[in-house]
Amino acid sequence: MSERILITSALPYANGPLHLGHLAGAYLPADLYTRFQRLKGKDVIHICGSDEHGVPITIAAEKEGITPQQVVDKFHTQNEETFKKIGIDFDYFGRTSSEVHRKTSQDFFKNLYDQGLFKKKKEEQLYDEDAEMFLPDRYVKGTCPICGHPEAYGDQCEKCGSSLSPTELIDPISAITGNVPILKKTEHWYLPLGDFQDRLETWIDSRENWKSNVIGQCKSWLDTGLGDRAVTRDLTWGVPVPLPDADGKVLYVWFDAPIGYISATKEWADLKGEPDLWEKYWKDEETSLIHFIGKDNIVFHCIMFPAMLMQHGDYVLPKNVPANEFLNLEGKKLSTSKGWAVWLHEYLEEFEPDLLRYVLGTTLPEAKDSDFSWKDFQARINGELADILGNFIFRTTSFTQRFFDGEVPALKDPTETDLNALKAIQKQKEKIDAAYENFKFREAIAETMNLARIGNRYFTETEPWKSRKENPQACANTLYICTQISGALSLLFQPVMPLKMYSLREQLGIPHITGWDQINDHLVPAGHLIADHEILFKKIEDEVVEQEIQKLKDKAKAAEPAAKKFPPLKETATFDDFMSLDLRAGKIIKAEKVKKSNKLIQITVDLGFEKRTILSGVAEYFKPDDIIGTSVCVVANLAPKKMMGIESNGMILMGEDSEGGLHFVSTDAEPGSPIT
Ligand code: MF3
Ligand code: ZN
Repeated sequence: MSERILITSALPYANGPLHLGHLAGAYLPADLYTRFQRLKGKDVIHICGSDEHGVPITIAAEKEGITPQQVVDKFHTQNEETFKKIGIDFDYFGRTSSEVHRKTSQDFFKNLYDQGLFKKKKEEQLYDEDAEMFLPDRYVKGTCPICGHPEAYGDQCEKCGSSLSPTELIDPISAITGNVPILKKTEHWYLPLGDFQDRLETWIDSRENWKSNVIGQCKSWLDTGLGDRAVTRDLTWGVPVPLPDADGKVLYVWFDAPIGYISATKEWADLKGEPDLWEKYWKDEETSLIHFIGKDNIVFHCIMFPAMLMQHGDYVLPKNVPANEFLNLEGKKLSTSKGWAVWLHEYLEEFEPDLLRYVLGTTLPEAKDSDFSWKDFQARINGELADILGNFIFRTTSFTQRFFDGEVPALKDPTETDLNALKAIQKQKEKIDAAYENFKFREAIAETMNLARIGNRYFTETEPWKSRKENPQACANTLYICTQISGALSLLFQPVMPLKMYSLREQLGIPHITGWDQINDHLVPAGHLIADHEILFKKIEDEVVEQEIQKLKDKAKAAEPAAKKFPPLKETATFDDFMSLDLRAGKIIKAEKVKKSNKLIQITVDLGFEKRTILSGVAEYFKPDDIIGTSVCVVANLAPKKMMGIESNGMILMGEDSEGGLHFVSTDAEPGSPIT
């Protein structure tokens, strides 16, 4: 790894606030890595900013009845603030509506255009006649041609993850008016990704140490074969296409946004008063460029942006793209539209940033999707931060206070046990270092906590409360070593909990020590005074997490549109349609499960004038014995139907509630009575 590292994390769309999924996907891992590399003294910058273009922004504006500019102004400011509070240490947080960005992305486009790279094609696109506009990307919804999901978007199906184009959707409708769009010809510039197939393949094959989930996705894109991809759109919001014949056209958001990394670096350099400095990070072979992203961004960072950089020339290509999978919430997929999300700014009103950083750090979706739950949050804070780390520090500092007047005692004639505990510092440090270098942050954090565990075990084993009287030097040795472990922990945990570890270092009297190389087994010298002990981590009560869980459920309920709870009305039926059905009152007199079927119950219904066998698909809802005696309504003239070898003669009416529960429709009328 070279000494200069350019770290980027995906530019979040400025169309809404940040939630836990954002943090776990890109920003926390990027920040852990940045802080780790800074501790190691590397020349590292972490660049990010708001993605302010594209359909996600304009749709948000239309929903709220404000302008796109108002949307991005609001969320750019809010998100930048949130990042600061949660401790994400960007060197620069830019925005793609900036002048520098407009110019940088237009120049980039022009450069590729002048090289004759783009294909100009006239193709049919979906068009909304009432809104008088083309419907790119998320402006269309429809059924996914791959998995049949009825609410796929024009650019992607969120159910199966397939990337789509609007014209592939089955039964497309306009997201603006709900109209069925027409097809209309329009001209666009296309990036012929196929031309890069071989170069990209060779390049991807030469990547070392990439995560298998990332390589897997790249390979599957490459195996399917790369095609032309439009890099312009018929929209008014975005970076205008810098060509004379391109009125009303803007750059595709996925063309301009990654260039945002470059423009933000330029702005960072300008601010430092060294306007050329950005080039060192983007053009010098000695730079390692690392993109932190979520898995839905892989194709753009591993295929499309590298192709753009290759063609432009003189830019470095990413050294690694350690993309994360997704974070679920309480066992369910996170969904902002369904209100199933924990917003960071709301979290920060209740809890300290470092607690979340630790808990999310231990649960990052590094290799597969992972889950955040409030119970786990509580368990890790109480069981790990308070009971292991906090307890160890407290034992060490309070014992030193009480029996050594706060002065770190000297080590003399250590035993084998003492030396082993002391050696653990170096051993753990090496493991943690390797884990960080390999983007295995969960492992790095677990191994850091293990050092606290080792410290606790050693403290208990050497029983300083006994040796204090029997063998004062042994007691002194224990406290010396525990203080060294505490000092090491204050730096090893620094990337994860910067605020907490700073206050720990202040307590230990070593706030000035900030280097990874300084972590050793004599960090806090004998004779050094340590400050009064304080409780580093308070436990979280049950009620507090119960409240959070309730809050989440309430928000999900509030987000449920009333009309969505129930299926839409069917088309109008004529009076005759209705009269052709013969509905009768009945009573269930016998019920048993149909063998080999999970769903069916065979029911005998007394219809007064006859007894009927009816098969009903309710076995997952009712026990046969429980429904005997229930009065029901029956469609009595339904054509017979055979299922599992048994003939069913009619249908029992059911009400289905919004939670999917079933209820019999009953009547007081005697069996056989017509229902009209
Ligand atoms: N805004 C995109 C998203 O949230 C990420 C853009 S990353 C960049 O999915 F590279 F394009 F900047
Ligand atoms: Zn799908």
